[in-house]
Amino acid sequence: MKNIAVFTSGGDAPGMNAAVRAVVRKSIFHGLNVFGIKRGFQGLINHEIMPMQLGSVADTIHRGGTILLTARSPEFLTPEGQAKAITFLQDQQIEGLVVIGGDGSFRGGRVLHEAGIKTVGVPGTIDNDIAFTDHCIGFDTAVNTVTDAINKLRDTATSHERIYVIEVMGRDSGNIALQAGLAGGAESIIVPEAPFDLTEICNRLQRGAQRGKLHSVILVAEGAASATHIGDEISRILNLDVRVTILGHLQRGGTPTAFDRILASRLGAKAVDLLMEGKSGLMAGFYKGEIKATPFKEVFENPKELNWDDYKLAAILAI
Ligand code: F6P
Repeated sequence: MKNIAVFTSGGDAPGMNAAVRAVVRKSIFHGLNVFGIKRGFQGLINHEIMPMQLGSVADTIHRGGTILLTARSPEFLTPEGQAKAITFLQDQQIEGLVVIGGDGSFRGGRVLHEAGIKTVGVPGTIDNDIAFTDHCIGFDTAVNTVTDAINKLRDTATSHERIYVIEVMGRDSGNIALQAGLAGGAESIIVPEAPFDLTEICNRLQRGAQRGKLHSVILVAEGAASATHIGDEISRILNLDVRVTILGHLQRGGTPTAFDRILASRLGAKAVDLLMEGKSGLMAGFYKGEIKATPFKEVFENPKELNWDDYKLAAILAI
């Protein structure tokens, strides 16, 4: 293998730059030529390629976002778009590809793998919804961002003796809501993976108020319910002062935590190792304390479970 390319795809995640940096520097260390593709799969279709040098990734390890830019590419979902991308990679003599992104990006990566281009995935998504990796790049940073927001909202919630309903990202996954809720001491956590009972949530709030609690925080994953709706209902049922905060895309930005930078460095380097070993159609993950490669097929066939022990624990601790 002589020529490797790397791109980021789908929603960005803090730490993606550290992963790109690891791919670039590890490749150069081994004497490979390494190229960056801009805007993910769309960049393959549009021929947006650039050679990467050691300096191309200088001063990026601590930056959020992605220096390679990212996109969602409806065109790549068509056979014509896929053919254009494959032809481009063949013309450029790219023999190995590292795709940094989430589930959708890996599905695109599998298309390229099946077309004979050696492809390895690196999990980068704040949703942390990919199986066979305990952590995806960006999740730890997002959880810390939300925890910081909870801390700040608690201050004002206490001063005004209010209930705060905070909506966080997670279209299909409650991982951010659960972990930030646990870290922030939320009274209730509403996730897409489990039904919720508004009456029980209100009873809990009332029990808290009766024993002198000055504030309450409820975390809602966007895929489970609208925080505005939950807030309106609680206010109507309990006749209490409720405020709603939707954290939105600020959860996707910011300086990556040390954990995310280290994870990204390890997984980016592992991806290069796998390609050099001639492997393809795999994801480099961090699973049960080890860096481990898992075939895309297994990743797709095993939806990641919510951490139910943590879900139960959060409810116990907020009694
Ligand atoms: O990256 C995943 C995610 O953050 C989801 O949690 C969220 O629903 C979605 O991306 C939002 O994506 P967009 O950038 O298209 O608004």
